Amino acid sequence: MKLKLTALAAACALLLSACGNNPSPNAGPAPADTASAPGTAAPAATPGTAGEAPMSSAGMAGMQPAGNGKPTAVVTNCSTEIEASDAIQYNVSSIVVPSSCTDFKITLKHTGKLPVTAMGHDVVITKKSDMQAVDADGLAAGAGSDYVKADDPRVIAHTKLIGGGETTAVSFPVSKIQGDGPYVFFCSFPGHSTLMNGSISVQ
Ligand code: CO
Repeated sequence: MKLKLTALAAACALLLSACGNNPSPNAGPAPADTASAPGTAAPAATPGTAGEAPMSSAGMAGMQPAGNGKPTAVVTNCSTEIEASDAIQYNVSSIVVPSSCTDFKITLKHTGKLPVTAMGHDVVITKKSDMQAVDADGLAAGAGSDYVKADDPRVIAHTKLIGGGETTAVSFPVSKIQGDGPYVFFCSFPGHSTLMNGSISVQ
């Protein structure tokens, strides 16, 4: 009985002091400190360095149709791995194939989570001048054909269509993109080619 009352009294005292005293001394200085410290430090440091890297590599790439400040693909041993995401984007805007390569391999990794029926991605290589018509014919061919018309002579190479978490690859002779270009790679899933395309060239 005595203990309970003292405990209650103590609790009440704590509550009262919490309600009565805390707001005025603590509220003032505390938020002011946390607001000013990250506000000035963080933005000043990062954007300068982050903004420069993609800019310079995109400038070197030159003639890609949808640059968007994205880099050129990293090529190792006549192959490259590029990524596609649920945001309807490749992670590169151009692929430069070394002329010393006989064959070239492109691996496509879908880093997203959406299924192939909602966010399918592939890599289709054509002449830039053929892209629109090949894309339209792929749409007509439908999902059962991975949105690529069967035996289309304008299609130089293409991967299969994949969904989130999947990876696919295609290899093709480099001589096939050494003719009368320019050449492009794009995604033939309906509506994706305007956002998902880039240049592919031999140097
Ligand atoms: Co796509």
